[in-house]
Amino acid sequence: MKLTLRIWRQSGPRDKGRLVEYEVDDISSHSSFLEMLDVLNERLIERGEAPVAFDHDCREGICGSCGMMINGMAHGPQALTATCQLHMREFQDGDVLQIEPWRSAAFPVVKDLVVNRSAFDRVIEAGGYISVSTGAAPEANLFPVAKENADAAFDAAACIGCGACVAQCPNGAAQLFTSAKAGHLGSLPQGQTERPSRAVRMVEAMEDEGFGYCSNYRECEAVCPKGISVDWIARLNRDFLKAKATGVRGDR
Ligand code: SF4
Ligand code: FES
Repeated sequence: MKLTLRIWRQSGPRDKGRLVEYEVDDISSHSSFLEMLDVLNERLIERGEAPVAFDHDCREGICGSCGMMINGMAHGPQALTATCQLHMREFQDGDVLQIEPWRSAAFPVVKDLVVNRSAFDRVIEAGGYISVSTGAAPEANLFPVAKENADAAFDAAACIGCGACVAQCPNGAAQLFTSAKAGHLGSLPQGQTERPSRAVRMVEAMEDEGFGYCSNYRECEAVCPKGISVDWIARLNRDFLKAKATGVRGDR
């Protein structure tokens, strides 16, 4: 395949950045999207040019490291697929691909396609845990958990923290991520005690980080590689409003 790539190049956080066009040929349609970028980078290095910086780790769709806007879509055109699991057979010979980093005030660009997503870590620090020490792993059946609750917790836990939901949202909102993390713990018996304060702390942390507010565009759900449902957002909103109405404080 022969492709024209328009890639966002930005040497550092202070650089203005610009789109740079590259022609790549001899790309196998069996290669993954990141392998295609690897080929480009090898050729750039051979020419003495700086390779394109992009985040990745597992390349198996489970670590949440990868992610870029491909023709305006977070993680590209294939539903339920992280960038690392996207393959070049999804594209046509001669295609023009515009590749950009996540765009969000809360995710500043580090270099080229790499953004700083530590704002997500701080939202997790605010409440994405159970604060009691539970000691060694207990016997699995010690806490009876209803099947539907276990299934719900598992669905929410599938969030890999990639940030695509924020990048695609016109408001730059982080509600899908935050609600999945809060919903995971709030679906299990061990997570009930801190459920009200967790909702307040995580929502307030999200606001402090400069994420926008959810307006129900549902773009987040459409691009989420793990199919996290916006139903979790409704549930977090209910928990938050109930907690505030009963005077729960979000001390952190
Ligand atoms: S909710 Fe989906 S899109 Fe958002 S961070 Fe989690 S896995 Fe990524
Ligand atoms: S590199 Fe780990 S999810 Fe894509």
